[in-house]
Amino acid sequence: MNIAFCCTGIAPQPWLADLRAALPEARVEPWAPGDAPADHAVVWAPPQAFFDAQPRLRSIFNIGAGVDALLGLRLPPGVPLVRIDDGGMAVQMAEYVCHAAIGYFRDFGGYAADAAAGRWQPREPRDRAAFTIGILGLGVLGQRVARALRQFDFPVRGWSRTPKALDGIDCFAGDGGLDDFLAGTRLLVCLLPLTPDTRDILRRETLSRLPRGAYLVNVARGGHLVEDDLLALVDDGHIAGATLDVFRQEPLPADHPLRVRPRITVTPHISAQSLRADCVAQIARKLRALQRGEPVAGLVDPARGY
Ligand code: NAP
Ligand code: GLV
Repeated sequence: MNIAFCCTGIAPQPWLADLRAALPEARVEPWAPGDAPADHAVVWAPPQAFFDAQPRLRSIFNIGAGVDALLGLRLPPGVPLVRIDDGGMAVQMAEYVCHAAIGYFRDFGGYAADAAAGRWQPREPRDRAAFTIGILGLGVLGQRVARALRQFDFPVRGWSRTPKALDGIDCFAGDGGLDDFLAGTRLLVCLLPLTPDTRDILRRETLSRLPRGAYLVNVARGGHLVEDDLLALVDDGHIAGATLDVFRQEPLPADHPLRVRPRITVTPHISAQSLRADCVAQIARKLRALQRGEPVAGLVDPARGY
């Protein structure tokens, strides 16, 4: 069994070593143009030329949660595409979103500015019961984030494509549920996959349905957010501010307006990073399950886009 490793922007050696240790029955090699076709592929942002040279793939493993970039390529038809589900990312996403939400709710940014200016200025506590946090996307990451936020007693609601019933979470679904979901959300978190249905979902029309003074956290993909619409809504006060981890263009250009707005915090796509040990163990387990003809979690439906 030959496994080709083709991951852009990732140092291959530690991954190759770990994959070889986890799958001693396989020959795992970094892919180079001209190599013989492989049986299985482990990929992250591969070039189209990689798939063009793979006539006999039996499975493709994406070492991240999002497959939007991959689905933009011509993939060999009918070959199972498996993404990482969780892979150490869910708890990181919960940390990141709780940090952003609590930082805004408690105004820790304001207190940091006060401390730097030598001010001692306690503020009135905000009403937690009125601070509903809404999560777009109730999948592996969205549900983990929802559970973490509930630990702080925030009212939490979520929106998904198909209806759900989750303990302690107010669930909304489908296009018909979006307006009601947004109308009661004080802090909006985006954890959707980027698909034709969700591209530009964070635009003026939808963000305007949030109550005035709402806050945005986008940790999904830059393609969800129409950045100019957000900037305009922050300028007119409808949106109080935002924490953004993902951007239309990454790295975010040094002179981009999102970098200099005082009420916008940016981070370099680090809210949740695939952890190598978790991912390698997951790939080995799923590859063997596929070989036995068993179902695996994280199988992507190309028609659905995630
Ligand atoms: P997931 O398990 O596939 O969950 C996706 C959720 O979105 C599901 O609840 C799904 O609804 C919902 N959804 C999809 N299309 C929808 C639509 N048209 N309308 C309403 N809901 C829709 O994905 P995940 O593992 O939680 O990851 C989510 C995304 O996070 C990834 O795709 C990736 O882009 C992003 N991500 C970002 C980082 C980072 O560092 N910034 C790290 C990891 C992942 P159903 O439950 O009904 O299917
Ligand atoms: C990271 O953004 C991922 O999709 O895993």
